[in-house]
Amino acid sequence: MFETLKTLPSDAILGIMALFREDQSPNKIDLSVGVYQDEHGRTPILECVRRGEQRLLEAQQTKSYVGIAGNPGFNAGMEALLFGPDHPALRDGRISTVQTPGGSGGLCVAAHLILRAQPEARVWLSDPSWPNHLPLLRLAGLELEQYPYYDYEHHRIDFDAMAGSFEKLGSGELVLLHACCHNPSGADLSQEQWQVLAELFERRGIVPFLDIAYLGLSQGLEEDAFGVRLMAERLPEVVVVASCSKNLGLYRERVGAVSIVSKDSRSAEIALGNASNVARGIYSMPPDHGAAIVAEILHDDELRALWLEELREMRDRLNDLRRLLVDKLTERDSPRNFSFIARERGMFSFLGISKEQVVRLREEFHIYMVESSRINIAGVNQSNADAVADAIVAVL
Ligand code: LMR
Repeated sequence: MFETLKTLPSDAILGIMALFREDQSPNKIDLSVGVYQDEHGRTPILECVRRGEQRLLEAQQTKSYVGIAGNPGFNAGMEALLFGPDHPALRDGRISTVQTPGGSGGLCVAAHLILRAQPEARVWLSDPSWPNHLPLLRLAGLELEQYPYYDYEHHRIDFDAMAGSFEKLGSGELVLLHACCHNPSGADLSQEQWQVLAELFERRGIVPFLDIAYLGLSQGLEEDAFGVRLMAERLPEVVVVASCSKNLGLYRERVGAVSIVSKDSRSAEIALGNASNVARGIYSMPPDHGAAIVAEILHDDELRALWLEELREMRDRLNDLRRLLVDKLTERDSPRNFSFIARERGMFSFLGISKEQVVRLREEFHIYMVESSRINIAGVNQSNADAVADAIVAVL
């Protein structure tokens, strides 16, 4: 039976990660997969996570099932984090949240829920978007389209083209937006642009589908959640998918959530029942361990304060590295202006070089990045920034 299957190309991101692991060069540099790295190229376990996990291990009495919707403390904590504890939609009982296996699990539950509610639903993705958005959502059965987003020439959002394309959408269509730290471009919507989109979506009956995988890694927890909070205030229905992989460094534990904002509390109850039923049908129940650690952190003043401090450090470091890389490239009289990298936010930016140049960086200089020339800023550090800048200038 399986002889009918075809050999597939390796994953656009994880395939590069595998190539990096195979490279024996002591000077290799990994700017590929979106994983935070410290100054020594390590992806450390956050101290708040270590302590939360310790408490959990001491207190936990059983490994019996938790439930389809996951850890209630985690879900409540995520809602407060994403929407703010006093958000009107939360107060009115309009939000229902299900813990999921990572943000990808959240996207999958959301996709099935959308299809169940509206089998004809179309979801619009930014051009470009996270390379896994399309295969993941398509595998779930959604019909997908693209809207213009990144202007590669001027390294900014082409907001007029984007908003113009939304003016043509019909009621009930969904637009997937990255709430902050756009992956792969690092180009984010301003608060004014969020306001414009909220008005446009409201007027046209468009449903925002918000992916927030990097909360806290752009400007701060409150600032980064601006779009999520605004949309949930202005619109009757919003889908929000969150991940704790990056901002809590829980990657392999697979911690995420999907929150559905409904028009009233009765609809929210129905949405919760259906999201749970979808989850049961796909994987039955989410893994508990990582989410239980997050619940410990979010509901404890000391651990939460520690997390906020560690998150601030990661965020500041990313922003400092952006400036460092731009300075290094400028010092070398780069024929190209890379100053846009310092204006962008989160883990990623496009260098804007060709596929051939990306391959040269990998094969001649042992510097790994996604073929689109997306770099993970966190892979740069004080010891390798010169080598990275030298190599980029060499292939231009
Ligand atoms: C990335 O974009 O590199 C990360 O989100 C990791 C992944 O799963 O693709």
